[in-house]
Amino acid sequence: MSLQAQLESLKKETLEKISATDDLAQLNQIRVETLGKKGPITEVLRGMKDLSPEERPIVGGFANEIRDLLTAEIENRKVSLEAVALNNALAKETLDVTLPGTKVYHGTRHVLTQIMEEIEDIFIGMGYQVVEGFEVESDHYNFERMNLPKDHPARDMQDTFYISDEILIRTHTSPVQARTMEKHDFSKGALRMISPGKVFRRDTDDATHSHQFHQIEGLVIDKNITMGDLKGTLEVMMKKMFGEERNIRLRPSYFPFTEPSVEVDVSCFKCGGEGCNVCKHTGWIEILGAGMVHPNVLEMSGIDPEVYTGFAFGLGPDRVAMLRYGVNDIRNFYQNDLRFLSQFKGE
Ligand code: DAH
Repeated sequence: MSLQAQLESLKKETLEKISATDDLAQLNQIRVETLGKKGPITEVLRGMKDLSPEERPIVGGFANEIRDLLTAEIENRKVSLEAVALNNALAKETLDVTLPGTKVYHGTRHVLTQIMEEIEDIFIGMGYQVVEGFEVESDHYNFERMNLPKDHPARDMQDTFYISDEILIRTHTSPVQARTMEKHDFSKGALRMISPGKVFRRDTDDATHSHQFHQIEGLVIDKNITMGDLKGTLEVMMKKMFGEERNIRLRPSYFPFTEPSVEVDVSCFKCGGEGCNVCKHTGWIEILGAGMVHPNVLEMSGIDPEVYTGFAFGLGPDRVAMLRYGVNDIRNFYQNDLRFLSQFKGE
């Protein structure tokens, strides 16, 4: 075969390969193989020295022509393959900016947290400190220091979960009273504190009982604290929580850690005292227990009951929330059902 014929068939073959490939790497491979230093065209150009002077320019010109043609074809093919690759990538990565976004769900604070913070704010405004206690308590602080010695019959009202004979999960927030009293430095002034938190009882859960619920303990100790201070303080709290028109009334009661002890009722915020389903047609809602701190409790915490007196109270935020929002089952607070909880936006 003459050199020209060889070049002609090389051209044909290569043009076919170029149009057959749709792969950029393969295309590059074709370029290297045909036009590279070791490729057939370079070979032909190198062999020119053996040709006659007449043939040389003809074959040389033809070889150059083919080289230029193939170079251009390869470049064209490369450009179009790159364009296809880009279009494919663009098609795959399209982003529809008109699609609605994923909604970020805004949670709310739990309704009980809201109530407790509201009550904390009322007392902080009256100069009280907020003290956190332990949920796992000792029998000593939970009962003994609250004037409930072992075998005291009133312990029956607060049966609990024992971890050992001496360690339990607290049945009320009252142990925080003893823990705070024994640390307080009375040379720096009165002790005024509230302590919110979880408490636990071995109760059978029903609409008004939960084995876990909340309390807010209140305690004030100073010289000359009287029942009048207790009444005035509770009245302020109830008016702030249930409205300025509210009244309170005290009924005699019994708690081992207070003497005298009272049950505190607030006039019904729904009917104003006339009688309705919220107040069970009495006009009054039982809201908390309170009293003057028992001298034994003061003494056990190292406070002289001849010099100091004080009042204490225990309030149930779960009950406040139930009353205020007309929730008739306490278990709703603990079941984490967003359909229930998200109703309390806390604004
Ligand atoms: N600890 C009581 C209870 O759980 C509530 C209580 C009543 C607390 C009277 C007090 C108080 O501080 O003075 O039933």
